[in-house]
Amino acid sequence: MKPGLDVRTPYQFILWAEQKFEDADLYYGHGTDNAYDEAAYLILRGLGLPFDLDDVDLNQELPAEKIEFLVELIRCRVEKRLPVAYLLNEAWFCGLSFYVDDSVLIPRSPIAELIADRFSPWCEVERVSSIVDIGTGSGCIAIASALSFPAARVDAVDISRDALAVAEENVRRHELSDRIRLIRSNLYESLAGQHYDIIIANPPYVDESDMDTLPEEYRHEPGLALAAGDDGLDIVRHILSDSREYMSDNGILVCEVGNSQEALMEAYPDYPFFWFEFEFGGHGVFLLTAAQLDQL
Ligand SMILES: C[S@@+](CC[C@H](N)C(=O)[O-])C[C@H]1O[C@@H](n2cnc3c(N)ncnc32)[C@H](O)[C@@H]1O
Repeated sequence: MKPGLDVRTPYQFILWAEQKFEDADLYYGHGTDNAYDEAAYLILRGLGLPFDLDDVDLNQELPAEKIEFLVELIRCRVEKRLPVAYLLNEAWFCGLSFYVDDSVLIPRSPIAELIADRFSPWCEVERVSSIVDIGTGSGCIAIASALSFPAARVDAVDISRDALAVAEENVRRHELSDRIRLIRSNLYESLAGQHYDIIIANPPYVDESDMDTLPEEYRHEPGLALAAGDDGLDIVRHILSDSREYMSDNGILVCEVGNSQEALMEAYPDYPFFWFEFEFGGHGVFLLTAAQLDQL
């Protein structure tokens, strides 16, 4: 893979990478949905440049070592199907930058929109004093929530030591060590006696048939973050049965189940799930209140 002599600037590289990505029929789903945006993400952030780079810098000739570096990045994206976020060790969530590697899922949950809206109209910001993020991975949901709810302490739980190491790095990066507690736990097991105003969970929920047909890009992500048995509900079942015990009386549970929404509704026909709609894409996120759970 070698660019012609007419590929010397960031902009020319974006167009060249776009063509390579299209030829290779890559899969997009980690923050972009087309070859051009994916190419711009890889080239600009690969060079450490901002997304809103001006025309002058976009058309500046690059030194030879940067050209070599970009060619290698493009090669790895195409030939190994490695997601850009892992190639750059960087992902974006709620407008914040996170360190990521292949021990964590690449942040992309539509719950970002709900956090940015501070779960309005379900919560009053000043009345939220405790939040837990179940299956924190990179820590993206816990960190964005801590920033949206400045009066809240946040527990970030994961069963994976490697994921918690990544989350720790991100908590440090966002200077939130005084408000976010990282806890290694199998779901609620280590949280005895705690009550939270908001429980947020983006657990593994991919069912067996979706696991079998995952695009190659997703196969670089940890299976522990994705696979959830035959019907995708192995973990969600526990979240549904155990959450009420850990909620305050005015608490809410917000949980993502993605494509397993239908299976969940079939398995729990009596649950009054509220399903969110998203402006920027995504689906399969429900809300239940403590009061609703009390009535079941
Ligand atoms: C879908 S990922 C979500 C990561 C992150 N919250 C995000 O939205 O990008 C699910 C996470 O749940 C963790 N996990 C899987 N089983 C778990 C369990 N039984 N208890 C706690 N965490 C678990 C995985 O290690 C993974 O980090």
